[in-house]
Amino acid sequence: MNIKFPHFYIEETESTNDLANDLLSKIKPPNGFTVITDYQSAGKGQYGRIWHSEAGKNLLFSLIVGPLNTQLNEIFKLHLVSSLAIIRALKRFNLLALTIKWPNDIYAREKKIAGILIQNHIKGSVVEWSIIGIGVNVNQQQFPDSLHATSLFLETKIETCREELLENIREQLLLMISCSNEYDWELLWKEYHASLYLKDQNVSILTKEGNNFIAIIHSVNKKGALCIQTLDKQQLEFSFGDIKYEKYF
Ligand code: BTN
Repeated sequence: MNIKFPHFYIEETESTNDLANDLLSKIKPPNGFTVITDYQSAGKGQYGRIWHSEAGKNLLFSLIVGPLNTQLNEIFKLHLVSSLAIIRALKRFNLLALTIKWPNDIYAREKKIAGILIQNHIKGSVVEWSIIGIGVNVNQQQFPDSLHATSLFLETKIETCREELLENIREQLLLMISCSNEYDWELLWKEYHASLYLKDQNVSILTKEGNNFIAIIHSVNKKGALCIQTLDKQQLEFSFGDIKYEKYF
């Protein structure tokens, strides 16, 4: 791989997030140090799910960021900048309907094209280091139907250089993460909402308790909760993992 920034490449590993966590516990790598692989035998997704990816086709990496001084109540900022970095990098491919499905899944035409798994090292009320694991489906041509997934190749019919895409996402992410100005953060929140999947539309919601109802997606608040309005005009907020939702036809 022709990569210029500080990184560790390994042909195969269980999970780049695990490797990055190991590195972080042994040495203090520089901010932005990136662990990259071509194949994960136990790729991790959110909520304990598995991340499937064909060998040598996609982007699988974890960025070590820190030392940070992110207050726990601002942790969602890490999800916001990670999602936006991928959106910005993918926008140049002119994909149709490129959106962020709350909290941080990236979709193209209703199918998942990228996922993010963030693991934090917390001291007191502060996130000191963060491992931002990113998987982007780049040149893979087939996915099991059950994954509802797509790739850059399936969307554009063109093979994409993975190194260039990685450099782009990484650069955007590090730039946004270092943002310390409140005004710039407001702009980033607007940018996130402009790409929010199904914003202002009717969705079918299923809570973890098994309740199913229709509501309109309103916004994501600063704590990272999804704010919705039910058909009888109740305003509700849900945290990650508390609900699943999909388009209501
Ligand atoms: C999700 O959508 O559920 C999150 C998927 C995150 C996958 C990436 S691939 C690189 C990094 N290493 C992992 O084990 N997971 C993340």
